[in-house]
Amino acid sequence: MEQYIIKGGVRLHGEVSIGGAKNAALGILAAAIMTDETVTIENVPNVRDIRVLLQAIEGIGAKVKYVYNNSVQINGGAICDINVDYEYIKKIRASYYLLGALLGKYKESQVTLPGGCNIGSRPIDQHIKGFKALGAEVDISHGMIHTKAERLVGGHIYFDVVSVGATINLMLASCMAEGDTILENAAKEPHIVDVANFLNAMGANIKGAGTDVIRIKGVNRLHGTTYSIIPDQIEAGTFMFAAAATKGDITVKDVIPKHLESLSAKLSEIGCQVIEGDDCVRVIGSEELKCTNVKTLPYPGFPTDMQPQMSVVLALAKGSSMVTESIFENRFKYVDELNRMGSSIKVEGNTAYIEGVEKFTGAQLAAPDLRAGAALVLAALAAEGISEIEDIEYIQRGYEDFDGKLRKLGAVIERVDSEKEAQKFKLKIG
Ligand code: EPZ
Repeated sequence: MEQYIIKGGVRLHGEVSIGGAKNAALGILAAAIMTDETVTIENVPNVRDIRVLLQAIEGIGAKVKYVYNNSVQINGGAICDINVDYEYIKKIRASYYLLGALLGKYKESQVTLPGGCNIGSRPIDQHIKGFKALGAEVDISHGMIHTKAERLVGGHIYFDVVSVGATINLMLASCMAEGDTILENAAKEPHIVDVANFLNAMGANIKGAGTDVIRIKGVNRLHGTTYSIIPDQIEAGTFMFAAAATKGDITVKDVIPKHLESLSAKLSEIGCQVIEGDDCVRVIGSEELKCTNVKTLPYPGFPTDMQPQMSVVLALAKGSSMVTESIFENRFKYVDELNRMGSSIKVEGNTAYIEGVEKFTGAQLAAPDLRAGAALVLAALAAEGISEIEDIEYIQRGYEDFDGKLRKLGAVIERVDSEKEAQKFKLKIG
């Protein structure tokens, strides 16, 4: 299996261009099948989760054409199956957006029930509650979830939990329902707004995305469009925190600084210099990082997908910090790996208590999940000596050319696929 070999201790510096937002693209690609006309989507990140969803979309009969590296054309006119194969949902949970898209378009859909994953149980009760509120029957049996409606009629849905996935799925399911739908306690992430903007570009009538009340007026049909996806807030944040971890100087380009405000605020709080431009943010790491406390919250709060990266930086800050994870119940699995690099972190319940240390030392590591894997790369880049990180396919789910972008910033990192390649690189970097 592929792994990263990293020699730490280099202060990363330079500019990095940020790709399209994975978590917006997943909702948008599912929405694209809701018209029989051709949709062109640009700035699509070329990452594993996206490729798997496009395979699932092809699997139900839609036409998918890769125009060039980060653009794709989709035509949902030839869809012949409302049942999404298990193999896709097993690989990515977000295949469940096809549940809402197919229900919204064909009034029926069937997807394998997503399991939990490495960061928590991740139920979909709010998705089901919403589908039922629109008049759909929802049947769960044999590990499948089947939805069917004679008529889809707009309803008033109050989410008991702020849920990105449920908000997106219900925008999909209701955008061609009869009448008006109101989503209360909706998620407000930038990618929610992006999916709503995309649906409106296809002729939907959605207002209020980005606030906690979204109003959807059902329309009869959706049409083709061309749309470009917003920059990835979490990819940008990961590189911004790489500057802090390595005491470097990194400018993330092609971003929307407003989406990064909670990250910029925390980086300033711990002593980094943050300089915002129109579509870029420069982060200059501090020689001595200050401790602070963080609690993950739905947007515009500090994003849970940046929690591991924040902990890595605080583990190198002077003093005691606390990181509280309020979204998922099991998102500290990387702490054991970090402590093997010399960090001093204790997890009690949903809070990590961090005592800053002078330095990390390189170690053999395994990525527990997507964002924790990226955080361990940051730790290895900051560490003294060589680290080897296994299970990097998790990281490749959400970061396009991660090692290539890091190398351009001066990182000594190589993606190797055999022990022989690993030894060769280790000899080369000494
Ligand atoms: C999305 O997951 C993202 N994934 C996650 O990013 C992100 O961490 C999460 O939103 C929170 O921002 C995608 O967009 C593909 P939720 P999602 O529904 O939609 C509970 C990454 O690294 N909940 O907002 O699954 C749930 O258990 C990934 O890119 C219910 O109880 O997250 C969690 O505690 C990791 N019932 C909380 O809500 C439901 O029906 C937030 O989950 C739905 C969710």
